[in-house]
Amino acid sequence: MKTNLLELEQWSRKLEPDHQTISNWFEQMTAYAHRFVSKMDDIPVYREDKEAIDILESLTVEEEPRKLEELLQRLYQSVDTVGINPAGARHMGYVPGGGVIPGAVGDFIAAVTNRYAGIHYANPGAAHMEYLMVKWMAELVGYPDDAVGNLSSGGSMATLTAITTARDHHRITPERIRTSVVYLTRQVHHCILKALRIAGLSEVVLRIIPMQDDFTMDIKALQQTIEDDLSNQLNPFMLVASAGSTDLGIIDPLNEIADVAGKYECWFHVDAAYGGFFLLVEQAKKLFSGIDRSDSVVMDPHKGLFLPYGTGAVIIKHRKSVLATHAYRANYMQDSFSQDYDDYSPADFSPELTRHFRGLRMWMSLQLFGVRPFRAALQEKLELTQYFYEKVSALGYVTGPKPTLSVCLFRIDHPDTNTANDLNQQLTTHLQQGGQIYLSTTTIDNVFWLRICILVFRTHREHVDLLLQILADYRQTP
Ligand SMILES: Cc1ncc(COP(=O)(O)O)c(C=O)c1O
Repeated sequence: MKTNLLELEQWSRKLEPDHQTISNWFEQMTAYAHRFVSKMDDIPVYREDKEAIDILESLTVEEEPRKLEELLQRLYQSVDTVGINPAGARHMGYVPGGGVIPGAVGDFIAAVTNRYAGIHYANPGAAHMEYLMVKWMAELVGYPDDAVGNLSSGGSMATLTAITTARDHHRITPERIRTSVVYLTRQVHHCILKALRIAGLSEVVLRIIPMQDDFTMDIKALQQTIEDDLSNQLNPFMLVASAGSTDLGIIDPLNEIADVAGKYECWFHVDAAYGGFFLLVEQAKKLFSGIDRSDSVVMDPHKGLFLPYGTGAVIIKHRKSVLATHAYRANYMQDSFSQDYDDYSPADFSPELTRHFRGLRMWMSLQLFGVRPFRAALQEKLELTQYFYEKVSALGYVTGPKPTLSVCLFRIDHPDTNTANDLNQQLTTHLQQGGQIYLSTTTIDNVFWLRICILVFRTHREHVDLLLQILADYRQTP
């Protein structure tokens, strides 16, 4: 028995490599990261490589260890130079962000020290750091001091926390689901519908409110729909607004929606996952007027604050309600939870218990840079988008609505819809396969559009000019 234990110990001690091995790994890892960042411009912003999967398949998990050199080489070939490069300046598809380097510093330290950030007792500093990040965002939104929130893995998880809290706050018990109504427009992100489904609310009445010509919610139509619902004994439960929609970057009239929400006592949720951090830009602030009157806001640091993927956030005004939905106590944790909830424990405000200490990446980034470069980068992205909008129309492309934030739609015009769609699909393929610029597409009212969203912190005027040049050349191609 004793011999066996010694042998096991010998093997298990391999999990704690010696100092030299650790130093060697750290050096290789740093060199890898350096190479990636310094060669970023050489990496195609989009590249297909069917061998990538084969490489990974060949690296089966074995009893015997492999060398880091080999793994990094394989990682580079099969993951870090294949598909979309979301860290790259020339990525303008979907909602990018980039991944500022202090985020990696924070993550690295969080992984090595493995601090437990879920419960205040386990690490008061880690939990409180997350509280400070939530508080900073709550102040940005204009919420009162007692607002609460949570750093989530992303916008979809943050939305789930908001929706489940709203459900319980308004006592949407099973027998009330089918008579309760949620109001939104076609511009909302699908994570709202997904959260409703996961929260057991897929049978609520969904009212898709018509939009004005600028794709913002038509308030008169909203008001009329609610009145009709009331006269049909339905229960107006929640209004959902976009503050930076994914398709177009539009912002719904938040103040007017807040008036309606107040009048009919509905929960008012704002999806600012993409747009929220533009609140840092003085000139953009007025676009968000009324956001402070909502009940919950989602805003994603992995979008507008350029942090690495895995950082969303939800801020909610009703502390007691968030706790009522999320806080739990268990005997096996009786040492670690206080009864009064005075100290901030992220686990009390989200579905998660044990989780990544994601506050450190955000704190590190804000501390190492200060806010000013973030504010400047966001303003730059707004101005670059206006610049692109003006220049691309001068090249003869049709543009979508004037950009509100950093999304711009454009297309080749043709009187025949099918031909137009084909031409624009060909242009998209040309751009994506070219590997110089990555942009995405969308369809609005059956019209196919090319769409850019400028939000990688590394994207500057030269990159927008490159896209304009490609588009100019394309028009010249016979
Ligand atoms: C407006 C908006 N809301 C929510 C989400 C979902 O966020 P996540 O992908 O972090 O879950 C997105 C994603 O792009 C978005 O653009």
